[in-house]
Amino acid sequence: MKDIAAHALIVSMDREAKRLELVRNEGNRVLGDASRPPFREESFDAILVDAPCSSLGIIRKHPEIKWHKREKDISALGDSQVKLLKTLWGALKTGGRMVYSVCSFEPEETTGVIERLRRSEKFTLENPLPFLFNKEYFLSLPHETGMDGFFIAKLRKL
Ligand SMILES: C[S@@+](CC[C@H](N)C(=O)[O-])C[C@H]1O[C@@H](n2cnc3c(N)ncnc32)[C@H](O)[C@@H]1O
Repeated sequence: MKDIAAHALIVSMDREAKRLELVRNEGNRVLGDASRPPFREESFDAILVDAPCSSLGIIRKHPEIKWHKREKDISALGDSQVKLLKTLWGALKTGGRMVYSVCSFEPEETTGVIERLRRSEKFTLENPLPFLFNKEYFLSLPHETGMDGFFIAKLRKL
């Protein structure tokens, strides 16, 4: 981590101060709403959006999730993920990469979000974990992988 920080400017953003306090690169923390980001157009080579989601992929560790989430919450979370990605897309340089991840496997939050983004933005999907999988995105289904449910897509902006 130290090596990356020495060679790159890393900016971390969250709307909750407590979450930002966990970030080690103290100089570049932004407290605010990422759906209204303060960043200039085409500022970043790479953006990681570890998006707020239903967390259904980690229900084995947090079984209480089933009492807190309703079916309609999943599509609403998908909507807000699309909004976040679209808004932050402008801050990404052409040719840069956006990594979108969620601890969910629901289509409304994963592949559906990518398809909706495709309607307005131009990108290609790159394998996010080429040393592990040979797919254009990573989708862990617990009954197949034995791991938590998780989704990662890496988008190269055209
Ligand atoms: C899946 S968690 C990210 C966890 C983080 N990557 C980590 O490893 O601790 C999603 C985060 O998004 C934040 N968040 C939700 N909506 C947001 C918004 N509109 N703007 C900025 N942050 C937001 C939440 O506070 C939460 O910390």
